[in-house]
Amino acid sequence: MNDFETRDNREELDRQYSYLELLKKVVEGLKEKNKRDITACVETFGCQMNARDSEKISGILKSAGFTVIEDENADLTVYNTCSVRDNANQKVYGRLGRLSTFKKNNPEMKIVMCGCMTQEECVIDKICKSYGFVDLIFGTHNIYRFAEYLYYVYEGIDNFHFDDNDSNLYKKGNTIVSRWEDTKVICEHLPVDRKYPYKSGVNIMFGCNNFCTYCIVPYVRGRERSREADEIIEEIKGLVKDGVIEVMLLGQNVNSYGKNLENPISFSELLRRVEEIEGLERIRFMTSHPKDLSDELIETIKNSKKICHHIHLPLQSGSSRILKKMNRVYDKEKYLELALKIRREIPDISITTDIIVGFPTETKEDVDDTIDVIKKVGYDNAFTFIYSKRTGTPAAEMEQLDEEFVKEQFDRVLECVQETARKQVTKIQGQTLPVLCEEVNKQDETLITGRLENNTIVHFKGGKELIGKIVNVKCNECKGFYYFGELAD
Ligand code: SAH
Ligand code: SF4
Ligand code: F3S
Repeated sequence: MNDFETRDNREELDRQYSYLELLKKVVEGLKEKNKRDITACVETFGCQMNARDSEKISGILKSAGFTVIEDENADLTVYNTCSVRDNANQKVYGRLGRLSTFKKNNPEMKIVMCGCMTQEECVIDKICKSYGFVDLIFGTHNIYRFAEYLYYVYEGIDNFHFDDNDSNLYKKGNTIVSRWEDTKVICEHLPVDRKYPYKSGVNIMFGCNNFCTYCIVPYVRGRERSREADEIIEEIKGLVKDGVIEVMLLGQNVNSYGKNLENPISFSELLRRVEEIEGLERIRFMTSHPKDLSDELIETIKNSKKICHHIHLPLQSGSSRILKKMNRVYDKEKYLELALKIRREIPDISITTDIIVGFPTETKEDVDDTIDVIKKVGYDNAFTFIYSKRTGTPAAEMEQLDEEFVKEQFDRVLECVQETARKQVTKIQGQTLPVLCEEVNKQDETLITGRLENNTIVHFKGGKELIGKIVNVKCNECKGFYYFGELAD
């Protein structure tokens, strides 16, 4: 046992499977009544964590008998939302309007909202007030209760089981709501519908304890909790049996994995156990916090045959003054030392990052420091964001900057990032490297799109029989962030 209540996992699981059975009957009834398939669409906003959650939602829907499609004009549409920046929220509100038109044409349509946005009380209030056509709202902690909640949506309020299990469940207007502040339960073994047959995300931990002062994630994802290593290994073995050759271990800060387990285990130890799984060919992980990245981890990556030579190491800012205000717990020198050590130890590694421009009080000189780090590390790619004020975070209380000024600084950073990345990505031009073939190119169906171990995208001529296979591709033509290549096998 760890300090989280995995105790009642079995009980909870039985409960959810019994609701799934009830839901199946509902869907069967709908199919009979309408004499057609009943469709569902899950739309994902945000990060890999949300993408994985959507696979869980979709797994429940498929098990219940829904036909899962990509068109939002379905009998049931789920928005799995993100609230990391305000524009993510605004996008969802905009799209909700469109859903209401679909619902007018199909009054039996059900609309569900879940994810990080709906962990915020003010969002729930707004939806209930202005978007009353939404049928169900739940958050990030109670996603494993989806079958149960959805059953209530179809069967009506009289079927509510107001028991001790969910005192947060209520109905406001026509909307059923359940928002949990946090959870200690990690409910394993519910159905999952994987988007890709050959690769999969695997949660190794949930939540975040870092409280970077700009960030809403700790408030919407709760406290850090690690899954038991044995559960993770079992899950990956099952995935491999099912055809998966690449896994991405997911957590907001994977380097602090295992610290709160009853028998603590380091992230590096976990990686070494995952490495032993026969049939698994590639291991990735996301995200690493620079403050916790150990020499042991660098050694582990270096000595591994399966861990991809790519590390996402969010910088956020290159200014020690701003980093302190952000509560990142490292400074410019420490970050540089770490990144350069990684480059020295594993020369062919690609390093990518996240950068925020426009954090309160940031000056042109602070941004110069960020640019200096970008140049010195030579990122292979960087996601650059304009700071977004998130209500409830400490940075929201600080004096905010002028938008024009921020935009100018953002452009400077972006230009530097693009130039650096182009230089970095060009380095492998002409090399023949293994590529995991991921999909048929959407623009040109004669092309296959795949990824190098270092995460760079490569397009090359090939047939769809290659999908899910690792093949050697000559990286001929660098197009900035990606390559056009040629099959070498
Ligand atoms: N746990 C990860 C990242 C999670 S959020 C980590 O610590 O690196 C993904 C990225 O969104 C962050 O790295 C950060 O760059 C960005 N971000 C988070 N909050 C933001 C905000 N308020 N405004 C702009 N960007 C933000
Ligand atoms: Fe947010 Fe910081 Fe946690 Fe990442 S480590 S999720 S940026 S609080
Ligand atoms: Fe967004 Fe939630 Fe991920 S806020 S970035 S979906 S953890």
